[in-house]
Amino acid sequence: ARLVVLLSGTGSLCAALLDATDDPAYPATVVAVGADRDAAGLEHARRRGVPTFVCALGDSPDRAAWDRALAARIAGFAPDLVVSAGFMKIVGPAVLAAFGGRLINTHPALLPAFPGAHAVRDALAAGAQVTGSTVHLVDAGVDTGPVLAQREVPVRPGDDETSLHERIKTVERELLVGTVAQLVTDPPTSPSQSRKSP
Ligand code: GRF
Repeated sequence: ARLVVLLSGTGSLCAALLDATDDPAYPATVVAVGADRDAAGLEHARRRGVPTFVCALGDSPDRAAWDRALAARIAGFAPDLVVSAGFMKIVGPAVLAAFGGRLINTHPALLPAFPGAHAVRDALAAGAQVTGSTVHLVDAGVDTGPVLAQREVPVRPGDDETSLHERIKTVERELLVGTVAQLVTDPPTSPSQSRKSP
């Protein structure tokens, strides 16, 4: 299966996917990595000769045009699945129309708890003893789509945002790699249908 990965930051999750696809038995390959700015994470792809693209909000006249431009850039690589791995923009109707149902996101909290861009900080501030990682289908909301996989991560005494986020990321990497493999092997039949047990 063909994956397009979207990122905005260091791209450690993207790197984990690229590493997983080194195994010929892994049922997907990363055909391109895109970002909303010239993010450091793009280097993981460039180093491997994987095509990259930057679709910056500032390069479009408005948000709707950026959404259309992003949809077109992604479509150019004909992905089977689009993976938002630390992509810090909310996609719009054009991207959702083109890839809804095969666009997933990884979030460093146990959704619906702690949605949004500061999930790790918010969990710490709330005094959570347990948080975690969620992989979900992207819908029009912010971190609100159907949950595909979740795993708990303990908060340890003395944790700060960095130490907790790093512990979460180790779980995110495994959860994302596993969920992508499962999805491309046994895709959900419809975006809304959650996987019913037989
Ligand atoms: C991940 O924890 C992701 O869930 C969150 O931002 C982080 C991205 O990390 N949205 P990286 O850029 O993959 O290292």
